[in-house]
Formats: sequence, structure tokens, C-alpha cells
Amino acid sequence: MSNLSRGLLLLAFFAAALLGLVAALVPLSTSLIEQWSRRDVELRSELVFNSIRDRIEREVTSPPQELGPLFERLTSDERILALGLCDASGQVVVATRRMPRDVQCHPIIASGTPVAQSVRFERTRIDGERVLVGIFPLTTGAATGSLVILHELAFVSDRVVEARWYMVVVGIALLLLVGTLASLILGLMQRRYMAGVLATIQDMRTGRPQRGVMDPVLKDESREIRGLLRDFREKIRQEDGTPLEWSPSTLQDLLENELPDAEVFVVSNREPYIHNHADDGRVVVQRPASGLVSALEPVMRACGGTWVAHGSGSADRETVDASDHVLVPPAKPAYRLRRIWITDEEQEGYYYGFANEGLWPLCHLAYVRPIFRESDWQQYVAINQRFADAIVREATRSDPVIMVQDYHFALLPRMIRAQLPKATILTFWHIPWPNAEAFGICPWKEEIIAGLLGSTVLGFHTQAYCNNFFETVDRFMESRIDREHRSVVFGGEETMVRPYPISIEWPPAALLSQQPVSECRRAVRERFGLPEDMKIGVGIERFDYTKGILDRLMAIDELLTRQPQWKGRFTFVQIVAPTRSKLPSYTSLQKEALRLTDEINERHGSDGYKPILLVVRHHEPDEVYELFRAADLCVVSSLHDGMNLVAKEFVAARDDEQGALVLSRFAGASSELGEALIINPYDVQGMAEAIGRALIMPEDEQRERMRLMRAQVRERNVYRWAGQILLDASRLRKRQRVKEFEEGL
Ligand code: G6P
Repeated sequence: MSNLSRGLLLLAFFAAALLGLVAALVPLSTSLIEQWSRRDVELRSELVFNSIRDRIEREVTSPPQELGPLFERLTSDERILALGLCDASGQVVVATRRMPRDVQCHPIIASGTPVAQSVRFERTRIDGERVLVGIFPLTTGAATGSLVILHELAFVSDRVVEARWYMVVVGIALLLLVGTLASLILGLMQRRYMAGVLATIQDMRTGRPQRGVMDPVLKDESREIRGLLRDFREKIRQEDGTPLEWSPSTLQDLLENELPDAEVFVVSNREPYIHNHADDGRVVVQRPASGLVSALEPVMRACGGTWVAHGSGSADRETVDASDHVLVPPAKPAYRLRRIWITDEEQEGYYYGFANEGLWPLCHLAYVRPIFRESDWQQYVAINQRFADAIVREATRSDPVIMVQDYHFALLPRMIRAQLPKATILTFWHIPWPNAEAFGICPWKEEIIAGLLGSTVLGFHTQAYCNNFFETVDRFMESRIDREHRSVVFGGEETMVRPYPISIEWPPAALLSQQPVSECRRAVRERFGLPEDMKIGVGIERFDYTKGILDRLMAIDELLTRQPQWKGRFTFVQIVAPTRSKLPSYTSLQKEALRLTDEINERHGSDGYKPILLVVRHHEPDEVYELFRAADLCVVSSLHDGMNLVAKEFVAARDDEQGALVLSRFAGASSELGEALIINPYDVQGMAEAIGRALIMPEDEQRERMRLMRAQVRERNVYRWAGQILLDASRLRKRQRVKEFEEGL
């Protein structure tokens, strides 16, 4: 039986006991009141007797009639019915008017008996009325007689009735009181019970220690709920084959079971490992600052296969074999990197031109005008074709699984499909997809959409981007959109369009080598020459205008102007990795950021204190994680961002469950990390307030928010992202096979 039912039963028992008690008290109280009233009357009788006794005994020799007026006066008391004097033979010799005739003073008390012992009281009925007869012996020498006093007892019944009413009223009042108390207690218990149920479900979702089981009120229920939830999740897992906890091994299992013998390729512009010549001539390996690489690299480590990318490092050619392959990661090879070579001129048109001056600002609504040049487009087409041809040459089977990444390769899916019709092409667009009107300004919009619709599956970070894509296709292409199955049929081929929110590996490899948080805090403050108690905020990203870096700097300026108490107590460390620096839109941003930083430092700094430390240099993941762990808060203020993995990495870095995240509502990550302080980066004052709030956020609140966000990132990690795309791919492959059987019949 549950504790709640036990509580209810106890209350019912208590109410019944109370009713029983009231019922038992009624007869008892009746008898008590009667006894008490009788005693009261007896005492009054004795009092009357004692008050007139002397006089009667004095006057007993005079004619008794002389006592008549005295007796009449005494019966003016409403409860004394009559008074009489009896002689020694028991006959009434003097009596008041209302003395009944048949009253006698029997038995006559023997002479010499002490008065106190010989007083007698009798109850009787006279004319239907209850009456108490008191007989008091008189002794004066030889003369004996007695005084008889008749008292009415009707008032006793009135008292009993009155007492019963009183008890009923008190009983009802008690019941009402108990009922009200009971419902209050039950209400509280129910609230606690519901809170416990929710906490149990939440704990199970987040993998926290079981609070409910610790709570005596919920001990049994909590176990039961957890058991049921486990069964439920297991059932879902069995039904759709989705693992609960995604990890490299679940992804490997999925590949083995769902896509056996699949030949896996990843294609992206940016390569995961760049070999460069250091100043001293040594070859060094660099991990690029790229959300795409951070996400895909752990997936490739888990799945193996071939990653095809632009060989952009100065020592890249020296490190590949004759067929332009190199095994990576260098320390522990797990997959093959196939490098594609691109000349500077091609790079100008394809990468800097069409991809980064055209498509990048077209898709990011950051108010930078896209530039479209015919020559850039030609290079873009040519490089897409080069990558397509390379993949076709690399493939040893007719049906490889090819994961095409990002806006550099919008034409690639159709180009591959033309040569490998059976390939499963999974394209993922890592940046936002704007609405149809915004996309419509691209002179080659139809070619780009047609290129993407060569994919088997086309993924975006969010449903909103998928909807924008459907709207764009609807506006510009002759096609059939099936919103129910979330697909587009174009040129007789179907492409599934789905949201797959990208994420990071869990646990992040860079976290494993980290020192405890206290050590990171100390080391980072020492490195920047900051005192131990200095609050630190961090921003870490590529030096890109979509990241809202200027707005963030202005927000810090605003904070220090409005809350000057933070001067000397708060430093914002802004790490920026140089990127696309050849483009004017980037160089002007970089210049402006440096100027603004100097201006703010000038305005609010003093005695060596600089509120903003702007560090322009590439940081490896280990350094980034150390900074995240040393910080009190992190600001991600993107003006527009497909997902933003920096936000997720900050959360992942904080295994101490401390630190506050200030996150732009225009980053895809904000739809998953709702416990961050969500801001509009265009509202500088609002952002300043959020940073101020983050600075004083109590540890408990930081912990609550961080726990929920960490659970989200852990569960929805990048293995899940890849797993879900691959699961969809496997379903479509199976469906395709069945279709081929049918066509062959
Ligand atoms: C974004 C893009 C990626 C790109 C990364 C870095 O995350 O979606 O495709 O790799 O920025 O940019 P970069 O131009 O240096 O590769």
C-alpha cells in the first residue's frame, strides 16, 4: 500500500474515531449532568434547610401556621416547588400552597440519629413532573418532626438537551476542523508527491542520484516509476532500434547491424588534421577551429572510413602517400584522410568567393551583403566536380554511404548521384537556411537546390531551417513536396529533409586530460596576470562577423558603465581564431574589434587593469577546455548561427556543474540549451544585464541550470546525431532494395 493511501486511511480512521467518541460521550454526559444537577438541587435544599432550621426549631412550639408566610417567601425561588413541616407522626402540619396532598414525611427518623445521616432525598413524579423530595429531620429536645422541601427537576432535562446540542455542535465543529486540516495536509502531501514523481522522472532523464528514493513519502512510488520508465524506454528502444545512450560503440554496432559492409565517406572542405611547417621548419599538426570538424571527427574515429577534404596545410603534401592519403589521428590512426589539392586561384573563387562571400552571408542574416560573381561560381562548380570525381574514384563499391558536409558542396550530391546512382548520399547543411525571399537573391538558386536534391537525406540543425528549405523549393522548383513524410520529389527522385541537431562527443576527449577546476582557475589567472579573485568571462570563436563579437564588447562597456563596481573585479577574455582574413568583411570586423577593445579598456581600465583581453590566435582544444573551466561565465552572442558548438563545449567542460552560459536566441543551440541566460545580441543593454546577472548567479542556480544542460548535451551527443542520420539512411537503403526487387520482377 502506498504512503499516500496509508495517509488517507489514517485520516478516515481518525474521523470515525472522533464520531465514535462524540456518540459515546452523549449518554455519559447525560448521566453526569443529571448527577451534577441533582447534587446541585440537594445542596440548595440543604442550604434552604440550614438557613431556616434555627428559626423553625425556635418556633416549633408556637402555632405552626405562623411559619406559613416564611415558607411561601422561600418558594419564590422558581425551582422550589413547595415547602412543608411534618410532625413527629409524619403528617404535614404546615405547607405552602403548591404542596401536593399525598406528600408524607416517611419514614420518621429515629430520635437521636445525627441529622447529616438522616437527611433523605427521593425522586418522584408529581402530576407528571419530575420532583426531588428532600426530608430534613428536626430535633429540639423531645420535639421531633421534619422539613420537607420539593424541588422541580424539569430544568435537568432542559440542561441535558442543551448539553446534547452543545456536544453535537462541538462535534460538527471538530469534524469540520479535522476535515479542513486533513484536506490541507493531503493537499501538501499530494503536492510533495507530485513534485517527487516529477523529480523521479527528471532524475531518470538526467541520470542524477535518485532523490525520490531518499524521500520516505515516495520511496515505494519512486522505485515503481523508475521501473516503469525503464520498461517504457526499453520498449521504445526495441521498437525503433534506437540506443538509449549514444557512444562510439553504439554507433559502431549500428553501422555493423544496419549498414553491414558499408563503405563510409565524409566530404568537407576543412580537413580534420592540418600539417603545417612551423617557423623552425618542423612539421606540426593543427586541429582547425571548425564546428563541423569538432562534430565529425569523433564520428569518424568511431566508424572508420575515408574523409575527403581540401589539403590546406603548408606541409600537407609532404605527409600524404602516393594516392594522397594519410592515416589520422596521427597518434592513433582510426580512419583515412584523402586530401584534394586546390590552387590559390581556385581557392579564391570557390572558397573565398562563392562559398564565403556569397553563400555564407546569404544564409546568415547578419546584415553583410552577399557578393555573387560569375567567375566565383565557375570555380565553385569546378571544385565540386573535382571532389565528386575523387570520391567516385575512391569508392570500391557501387553503393557507398557518402556524408556530404556544408555549403561548400551544394552541387556535390547531384554530381555523385550522376556517377554512382546507388550511393546513399547524406548531406548536412551546417549553417542556417534562410527564408525563400532571402535565398531568392542568389543568381544560381535553382542549381544549388537541384544539387542538394541529389541527396538521399538532407539534414539541417532545426525544423525551422527545414521549413525554410521546403518553402524555398516550393517557390523556385518544379517539384512535389510531401510534408507528411518530410520529403521532396524532384526529377523522379525523393530526398528526405529532416532536422538533426548536431552536437559534440561525450565525454569530450579534451576534458579527459584536464586538471581539477581549481587548478585551471589558478593557472589561467596566473597566465593572464590576474588576481585570484578576479571574475572571468570568456568568448571563444573564429573572428567572424556572425558571432556578434562587437555587440558583446559593447555589452561589456555598458555593464561597466552601469555597474562600475565590477571595474577591477571582472575581466572578459575574448579568444578569436583568425579566419578568412583575406575578405574585407572579415578584416574590417577584426580592425573594428581591436579599436573597440582599446577604447573600452581606455575608458574603464586603470593601474594595469584591462576589462577586455583580446587574444587573436588559434587555440588547441586542450587550451580551450582549460579556459572554459577557469571561467565564471561564457558568452555566445551570435547574430545568427546554425547550431554553435562552443555553447555545448562550455557546458561539457564544466563537470563541476558551475559557470553561467549567456546564449544568443539566434543560435540553433538555444532551442536545446533553454537553461542558459538567453539574450538578443542586438539588444546591448539586455546583454549587459544578462552578463551582470551571470556574475552574481548563486552557486545553486548555476548547478541546477548546468545539470540540465549537461544532461541534454550528454544524451543528444554527436554519436546520436550521426546515428540518427545513418538509421534513416539504412531504412531508405532497405526500401530501395525492395524497390529494385520489384523492378527486377
Ligand atoms: C563553420 C562552417 C564550417 C567551417 C567552419 C570554419 O562552422 O559551417 O564548414 O569549417 O565554420 O570555417 P573555415 O572557413 O575556417 O573552414
